[in-house]
Amino acid sequence: MKTYIVGNFKLNFTVGEASIYLHKLLKAVPNYRDIEVVVAPSTVALQPLSLQIDRHKMKLAAQNGFYRDFGAYTGETSFSQLRGLVDYVIIGHSERRHIFGEDDKFIQKKVAGAVRNKLTPILCIGETESERAFGETADVIRDQVLGGLADVSAEDLDKVILAYEPVWAISSTKAAKEATPGEIAEVVKLIREILKDTYGVKVAEKVPILFGGSVKKTNAGAYLMVPGVNGLLVGGASLILSEFIDIIEIAKRVSA
Ligand code: PGA
Repeated sequence: MKTYIVGNFKLNFTVGEASIYLHKLLKAVPNYRDIEVVVAPSTVALQPLSLQIDRHKMKLAAQNGFYRDFGAYTGETSFSQLRGLVDYVIIGHSERRHIFGEDDKFIQKKVAGAVRNKLTPILCIGETESERAFGETADVIRDQVLGGLADVSAEDLDKVILAYEPVWAISSTKAAKEATPGEIAEVVKLIREILKDTYGVKVAEKVPILFGGSVKKTNAGAYLMVPGVNGLLVGGASLILSEFIDIIEIAKRVSA
């Protein structure tokens, strides 16, 4: 399986800044066949960056999208509109869940809508600090995995990527803590078991599981060595071009 390094710019960079970043990134990173480099800029940057990107080298992701193809949905961007611009779409990010009130039912429709439009959803799941403190992590993860994937058939499961992002480890969270490799391993194992029990061993093994939450060049190597982790979803550190390049190089070394 490839190693995925996904940079989530969130609400940062103008279109011009994102374009300069991509230009420099394309120059700095060789064509690694076993590393899938993905950048997720703001929606407004997707069209120009889709013309600029070298798809053999890296791919684009949208940070969000809507499951209806068209209609009276002010402010939304449909997966059918994103199709052709991006290969991936981040769905159910904790900021969407907690700031914009997206629940598992809504996220479930988005995941299915992305798959229907031939985009690969990167479905984010993760418990909050208080859910962890109350011993609810396993239940929350189970609900988010099964809820988010409820409309995805076993045949389509290999078109989905999961990202475990404990909310308490995301750098924008107040007093964010870095997760330990042991904490990550435990939850990633649980996610794989849920997939195996629901969809069968064969297809469950094919689903990439990424980790995200305060990933930096100093912890990327250790996180990529956690059994069952197939890549990283990088937020804050991806805004610093040199740091993101270092993380890609670390992934190359670890996967060699
Ligand atoms: P962070 O964000 O790397 O800044 O913690 C990760 C994410 O929210 O996807």
